[in-house]
Amino acid sequence: MVASEMPADPSPAPAVRVAGLVKRFGATTALAGVDLEVTQGTVFGLLGPNGAGKTTLVRVLATLLEPDAGRAEVFGRDVVHEAPAVREMLGLTGQFAAVDEILSGRENLHMFGRLFGLSSAEAEQRADALLQRFDLADAADRPARTYSGGMRRRLDLASSLLTRPRILFLDEPTTGLDPRSRNEIWAIVRELVGEGTTLLLTTQYLEEADQLADQIAVIDHGRVIAQGTGNELKDRVGGQLLEVELTSSAQRDRAQAVLAGVGCGDPAPGARPDQLTLPAPRDGLELIADAAAQLRSAGIGVSDLGLRRPTLDDVFLQLTGLPPSEDGAGPPPVASPPTTNTALRSAAIRHGGLILRLRPPSGRELRSAVTDAWVVTARNLRHFIRQPQLLIFSTIQPVMFVLLFVYVFGGAVRGSLPHGVKYVDFLLPGIFVQSVAFRATQTAIGLAEDLERGVVDRFRSMPMTRSAVLLGRTLADLVRNVLILGLMIVIGYLIGFRFHGGAPQALASVAVVAAFGFALSWIFAFVALTVRGAEAAQAAGFVAIFPLVFASSVFVPVTSMPDWLRTFAEASPVTLTADVARSYALTHGIPSSLGETAAWIGGLLVVFIPLCVWRYRRMS
Ligand SMILES: Nc1ncnc2c1ncn2[C@@H]1O[C@H](COP(=O)(O)OP(=O)(O)O)[C@@H](O)[C@H]1O
Ligand SMILES: [Mg+2]
Repeated sequence: MVASEMPADPSPAPAVRVAGLVKRFGATTALAGVDLEVTQGTVFGLLGPNGAGKTTLVRVLATLLEPDAGRAEVFGRDVVHEAPAVREMLGLTGQFAAVDEILSGRENLHMFGRLFGLSSAEAEQRADALLQRFDLADAADRPARTYSGGMRRRLDLASSLLTRPRILFLDEPTTGLDPRSRNEIWAIVRELVGEGTTLLLTTQYLEEADQLADQIAVIDHGRVIAQGTGNELKDRVGGQLLEVELTSSAQRDRAQAVLAGVGCGDPAPGARPDQLTLPAPRDGLELIADAAAQLRSAGIGVSDLGLRRPTLDDVFLQLTGLPPSEDGAGPPPVASPPTTNTALRSAAIRHGGLILRLRPPSGRELRSAVTDAWVVTARNLRHFIRQPQLLIFSTIQPVMFVLLFVYVFGGAVRGSLPHGVKYVDFLLPGIFVQSVAFRATQTAIGLAEDLERGVVDRFRSMPMTRSAVLLGRTLADLVRNVLILGLMIVIGYLIGFRFHGGAPQALASVAVVAAFGFALSWIFAFVALTVRGAEAAQAAGFVAIFPLVFASSVFVPVTSMPDWLRTFAEASPVTLTADVARSYALTHGIPSSLGETAAWIGGLLVVFIPLCVWRYRRMS
């Protein structure tokens, strides 16, 4: 087609188009059919009280949540079916600053830059520029944990700008900030708009929406109950409100009539009969003077009279006759949402299930997968190095077990040991297995903390390899386990333990235990993705690991156990791994149960890696 024959500039696809969007969490309907459109290059304000559904909408748009019905598009790309393409275009700053507390500001930005696909040098440059721009240069090398609320917000915002996204989602960017920090965020928002970025921001403050947004949608109970520019909304509410407190509620009706005479609108339904809050058509002192004079000449007693700017409460009172509800569980809104594009409404678009991608990854995908996994691993190792107390505590517990069993129970156990084997030699390989088994719960705790702090949300909203977050976690835990095993060996040597089969056998012993620990890490990653919350993950882990470790050959030979327990203990992968580690440590040659142990480890990995990746993708 020749260009001149084309119709004159068809309007570009809206930056966001949402139609009939529904999202339920169990019995709660967080989004009850939302329709809206955001024009490219503008700021769209989503205004609503707590529980209105703002965060849910942002999470759907940022590809973190799948809707139950309806459609959402970002620059014409479907957020469910074209999620990777959508992730390439968006930046997300969630409601709670998702920064890594242990890393410095610079390290945070560098990490996110790498995960956005920048080279190390590019990421460094970009981090530098953003630190300058967001006034964080002085604090750049301090851990983010030491930052003030405003600094965290700025760092969080900078983290979403590493690749200059086409659209930025800001979820309550200023909630909880002092006025100065709020003004700084507002200035940044205005700058970004000046550069052509489209912004969708949510807020609980009418003033903020009015200051920043070209278009505002008021949302309540998961529905858009009003839409317009700030001025349009304020016209409905009144640019300013005149507040009158009467000395006697009996004069309320007369006072209302008098104030209507000076141009005030209908009063909002108020809680107190001696009070009137009315939209004030004109600004300033003139109105106050007129109102005061008229009330006085009508003989109406007034104890207080003043002008104020409308709040969210006023907007809601004016629009719905009700104050904003806190939890989305109150009565339904009176107005129904405007329906924009019914053709876009579609039936449920859930498509659950385990999706197996049979296409082999391309070279580029593979390279970025390796980089992403490495960046996340390095980040987790850094955590470990910055918190040496964790290493100490991780080692103290197995040391206590060694001391307890060697010096307290050892005498009693000795009789049931194979002929000629010292208890400390029997015990240490078992302690290796015990250490990695108990430490596996740390995988769950670390992942659960990342989930709680919103770091995982940021990862999931980025165009990075999705399994890298999980692989980075389990690989770092593997490295940590190897370190702890090294320490345990040193301590073992101090109290008389010796490897009897030579160095290669000793290495094999450690390798089997580390591999078993790696498999357990994946089980616990799955636990963390399923139960939610670090404490729950830890508790669940303990309940599973405790009986497995004690009903095994870790501390004592299973031959000393009653038959019913022995049957269980002999089949347990903990026993098998301990036996293999022990055999490698104490004898020459290949352990008899190596095949069975390898099958267990391989089987656990084959089952739990895909389960984790699937769960991670479908997390809500
Ligand atoms: N993951 C979730 N599980 C269960 N309920 C949720 C979840 N996320 C949000 N909700 C519920 O959905 C409603 C809307 O929440 P949200 O989108 O966070 O509102 P807002 O961001 O406007 O405060 C609330 O009632 C909230 O309790
Ligand atoms: Mg929210």
